[in-house]
Amino acid sequence: ALPTRVRIHEVGARDGLQNEKTLVPTAVKAEFVRRLAAAGLSTVEATSFVHPKWVPQLADAEELFPLVRDLPVRLPVLVPNERGLDRALALGVREIAVFASATESFAKANLNRTVDEALALFAPTVTRAIEAGLKVRGYLSMCFGDPWEGAVPIEQVVRVTKALADMGCDELSLGDTIGVATPGHVQALLTALNEAGVPTSRIAVHFHDTYGQALSNTLAALRHGVTTVDASAGGLGGCPYAKSATGNLATEDLVWMLDGLGIETGIDLAALTATSAWMADHLGRPSPSRTVRALSHK
Ligand code: HMG
Ligand code: MG
Repeated sequence: ALPTRVRIHEVGARDGLQNEKTLVPTAVKAEFVRRLAAAGLSTVEATSFVHPKWVPQLADAEELFPLVRDLPVRLPVLVPNERGLDRALALGVREIAVFASATESFAKANLNRTVDEALALFAPTVTRAIEAGLKVRGYLSMCFGDPWEGAVPIEQVVRVTKALADMGCDELSLGDTIGVATPGHVQALLTALNEAGVPTSRIAVHFHDTYGQALSNTLAALRHGVTTVDASAGGLGGCPYAKSATGNLATEDLVWMLDGLGIETGIDLAALTATSAWMADHLGRPSPSRTVRALSHK
């Protein structure tokens, strides 16, 4: 059975833009977030409070957040440590996400830590965030394959997911950072997580579309009962610290499929497509999303 409603966790303004080499003006980012909210996205990940040298594109988080803070949508931000949490709290952020890795190679590349050192960095951050009344999501990267280590054993993913859950992350987003997952693998991982005591209701899926499998993988997750799906408007994205990671699942491609299945999202596809076409113009290259391209041909 499929769910009747899906919540899309829009990551275009964060995952989508973080890899862009040319700095996007803060006012354009704010307009992007505003238009995404106006198109009906109820959760719009806004930016990251990470080290500005690590992700220069998002170094304007302090300037951006106040411009979007009053929008009537959820506006989570990425926070890697207590320094990031302090910055977020000072601006009135209400929702954060920490981001762990299932593999040692990516933990080192993305967080300059081992897997367990990164978890130790997050633990006090998550505890303090919860005490401050914030909602906390835990991302887990490299849940299926890793560019340095190859296929990632399911037990390894289950161990770190449980650690994030036990730490207090209310939602766990399973990242296929380099887009190598296939539907059988998705099904197997979700089943293993359930068997380890992690309920499907706490799980979100986060697919990148490198091998064109993101929608098939999403459908496998929906059939398993997942109702929160991460996607990026226009299919923008990639991770600067994961070679071969291309764009995220495009929100428009996802909405086209969900509309066809009669699953509610609350999203106005025309408004969303217009937003992605506008951003593609700004970035100077066409959106990789098939749906954006199809609907943009008049
Ligand atoms: P580090 O170099 O080990 O930092 O980086 P440190 O803890 O040793 O601190 C060094 C200096 O940085 C200190 O300053 C800190 O204050 C400062 P100093 O005392 O030397 O003057 N510092 C900060 N400044 C501002 N904001 C902060 C902050 N933290 C420390 N938050 C660190 C460790 C975790 C900070 C770094 O590795 C980092 O920022 N990494 C972020 C990488 C990133 O954002 N990657 C992309 C997001 S993950 C992703 O895209 C995957 C996802 O989409 C899911 C998927 O697809 O798989 C979520
Ligand atoms: Mg990602």
